Amino acid sequence: MIIKNICCIGAGYVGGPTMSVLAQKNPHIKVTVVDINQERIAAWNDTDLSNLPIYEPGLKEVVQEARGRNLFFSTEVKKAIDEAEMIFISVNTPTKTYGKGKGMAADLKYIELCARQIAKVAKSDKIVVEKSTLPVRTAQAIKDILDYTGNGVTFQILSNPEFLAEGTAVQDLLNPDRVLIGGEESEEGKEAMEALVAIYESWIPRERILTTNVWSSELSKLVANAFLAQRVSSINAISELCEVTGANVGEVSRAIGMDSRIGPKFLKASVGFGGSCFQKDILNLVYIAKSYGLNEVADYWEQVIIMNDYQKRRFADKIVSTLYNTVSGKKITFLGWAFKKDTNDTRESAAIYVADALLNEQAEITVYDPKVSESRIYEDLDYLGTRSPEENRRLLKVVNDPYQACKDAHAIAILTEWDEFITYDWGKIYEAVIKPAFVFDGRKILDAEMMETIGFDYTSIGVSKTQSNK
Ligand SMILES: NC(=O)c1ccc[n+]([C@@H]2O[C@H](COP(=O)([O-])OP(=O)(O)OC[C@H]3O[C@@H](n4cnc5c(N)ncnc54)[C@H](O)[C@@H]3O)[C@@H](O)[C@H]2O)c1
Repeated sequence: MIIKNICCIGAGYVGGPTMSVLAQKNPHIKVTVVDINQERIAAWNDTDLSNLPIYEPGLKEVVQEARGRNLFFSTEVKKAIDEAEMIFISVNTPTKTYGKGKGMAADLKYIELCARQIAKVAKSDKIVVEKSTLPVRTAQAIKDILDYTGNGVTFQILSNPEFLAEGTAVQDLLNPDRVLIGGEESEEGKEAMEALVAIYESWIPRERILTTNVWSSELSKLVANAFLAQRVSSINAISELCEVTGANVGEVSRAIGMDSRIGPKFLKASVGFGGSCFQKDILNLVYIAKSYGLNEVADYWEQVIIMNDYQKRRFADKIVSTLYNTVSGKKITFLGWAFKKDTNDTRESAAIYVADALLNEQAEITVYDPKVSESRIYEDLDYLGTRSPEENRRLLKVVNDPYQACKDAHAIAILTEWDEFITYDWGKIYEAVIKPAFVFDGRKILDAEMMETIGFDYTSIGVSKTQSNK
């Protein structure tokens, strides 16, 4: 099957960048990304490329090349479905906030709505590609919905989970470690898989494109995220042990990471992982394990989340205890709100939970983040429902200048590892803050010796105070 028209439902952090690169590398295929969010589509179509709804290094350039040539962003969902031979579903699959599986299972209502819409609109055979991260066996549910519409159209369902990491999305898409495609083992299934392989082969070597059965593909995505998050929680667990024993977690990471069986990546201790995926996907894995009665398996993976929540709480507690057990009325400056550097995504960011804990202690927080908007920060806090929106706005301020943010602060907390924080004139900041000048580095990006020479009382994760003061 030769694909000439692709539709992608969902113009978010995955759909937007993924389809931009796919279109850039396949100029012969018309790619239409559709979304029900008009504002988002308008931003994708903005002539000023700095207004794209998603910030990712290198994305502007890709969009500039392909948009209007063979890449289109639109709200006309039905039309795009009708025209396409291949439809990617890239909508959000958040954790359920109601009913059975609340707080654990993935909410598949958006996926089901897409399947029903495809079933209603399709007049010709289609390949439907699951790009969203889904519980294992979701393809069966999608197939059921599509097959029982009775309009004679046949559908092939493929699973093609996305492994990009925000902040490096374009690089990851251009040069992925692997592309995973799961499909039915029938002739039709194999044909559909080959059609998708051909699209990726435009820029990715064939040996990096894996084909598996659908269930392996669906499950592999959840497992990949669980393993990555597990490494973060593992090193974070060790960070506390370092603090009490005088070991240094940076040195421990280096020492164990040089073992080729362990490897050096994802071994950096921090205030905890965030992002829209890790927590949601592990909870989903836990829920699936429980639903099959695999309680030990579920408990094992749940511990990764428990450790992560503890690490965020521990960071906030450390600030309070160091500031003489009270932060009431004290100005605490947050450098960073995004869940990691080089993205404006704040979903599940550690900063939100640390801020919430400190606001409960009546701290007055000032936030500076190079890419996150003021409205986003307030939405994140309001969403928790811990206090009224008015109170959140009274207690937390957002500023556009890091030096202004730090002025008269009782403490500075680094919540995101933005490179620019390293380059600040910390001597100048020291002059402007209240003494003792406390800095809590939740990302371990500053040089302890430099900070202490300037005069800061510098606390970093996984290093005991006595050790860093040596
Ligand atoms: N963000 C990541 O880094 C990442 C990485 C890999 C996989 N994933 C997975 O990809 C999926 C999408 O994630 P995201 O971060 O892009 O989410 P997102 O919230 O940024 O985007 C989803 C978009 O889908 C749109 N949408 C929802 N229902 C729709 C419908 N019926 N018709 C049209 N549009 C609809 C929403 O308006 C939204 O713009 C999730 O399953 C996620 O787990 C995300």
